[in-house]
Amino acid sequence: MAKKTLEDCPPETLADQVVVVRVDYNLPLNRDGEVVDDTRLVRTLPTIQYLVEAGAKAVLLSHLGRPGGRPDPALSLRPVAGKLEEFLGYPVGFCPMTTGPQAQEAVQRMKSGEVLLLENTRFCPEDARNDAEWAEEISFGTKLFVNDAFGTAHRAHASTQGVAHAVRRGGGGAVAGFLLERELRFLSDAMADPEHPFVTIIGGAKISNKIDVIEALLPAVDRLLIGGAMANTFFKAHGWAVGDSLVEEDRIDTARRLMDLAGDKLLLPVDVLTAPSITSDVSTCVSACDEVGEAQHIGDIGPRTAELFIDVVGGARTVIWSGPMGVFELAPFRSGTFEVARAAASTADRGATVIVGGGDSAAAAVAAGVVDRITHVSTGGSASLEFLSGNEMPGVAALSDR
Ligand code: 3PG
Repeated sequence: MAKKTLEDCPPETLADQVVVVRVDYNLPLNRDGEVVDDTRLVRTLPTIQYLVEAGAKAVLLSHLGRPGGRPDPALSLRPVAGKLEEFLGYPVGFCPMTTGPQAQEAVQRMKSGEVLLLENTRFCPEDARNDAEWAEEISFGTKLFVNDAFGTAHRAHASTQGVAHAVRRGGGGAVAGFLLERELRFLSDAMADPEHPFVTIIGGAKISNKIDVIEALLPAVDRLLIGGAMANTFFKAHGWAVGDSLVEEDRIDTARRLMDLAGDKLLLPVDVLTAPSITSDVSTCVSACDEVGEAQHIGDIGPRTAELFIDVVGGARTVIWSGPMGVFELAPFRSGTFEVARAAASTADRGATVIVGGGDSAAAAVAAGVVDRITHVSTGGSASLEFLSGNEMPGVAALSDR
């Protein structure tokens, strides 16, 4: 990797040092504020354990949600500190402030091998503004900043980019943590030298946020499978009726252009599951893609499409999957996504490289019970799309070069 990583920092150089670490603890919470998926937290443990074992003082920075620059008790990181403590098996300090005298004192009081999580960086408007002075403040005079927040590396914020610049300006270094290094390695290897057949499955609701990634992947892939509500816009581009289904009217031309560009590589659904509404208690029926009835809503790919997709995925040596095939959160519409998830897992079992983009597709792999069989499940939804699109990640670009 062109950027320095924590492996470039031998333990003996870290003893007694304050090390500032940006993690992405933007964990999904339920209505009671409880953490429902701790994957992102678990994946940061190797970095934190390395620092603790080296006797460093690890100061953790993260955002949670989008509080818009104001404190919001529902988005406090305090419960996350408790969760982290459970996993590490030793106390994790929590400071209810991100900057200012209270945060500075908390950092100054730290002893070797201690971990301190500061309050949500996005309670402060300076984070999203990438305020240089504030970035200096959250560096706490450290000589080493570790970015282990792949999920937020596409944001040019003070806690991702600004702090790296501040530390480097002061003569220190900024390196990738083990989570970030692993993400970049898997995603860039898959893009740089994929074993063929190389199959990409793209789903989710909207074409608009997947155009870049489709265009970037097209030259490299052998097959591009499209599912999810974004397929509806392609159906419209074919001139087929889609009933009352979600369509991006302003992207129909884009869909047409992508179809021309992709040619035979593109595989659209041949049938779909429809219902009078997208709810958990409806009965569904199967329609051919060009025969969707009026007032029907498309909620999933159909069984013939699932078979087709399973077959293509089954023959692949490299698979990148981003976005569900339907509304898998609701029982009547989950089968297409689960079948594709199971096919991807079986392909990985046979030794192929299978990468699942974060966000909804990662949640789908968990819900389908196959997450442990996938070669690499990214912790970044939008971040993995940005990376696969070939766009610069400010949080990575700001790190020290090897
Ligand atoms: C995510 O969950 O995708 C990351 O934590 C980034 O969050 P954001 O989209 O609010 O910047």
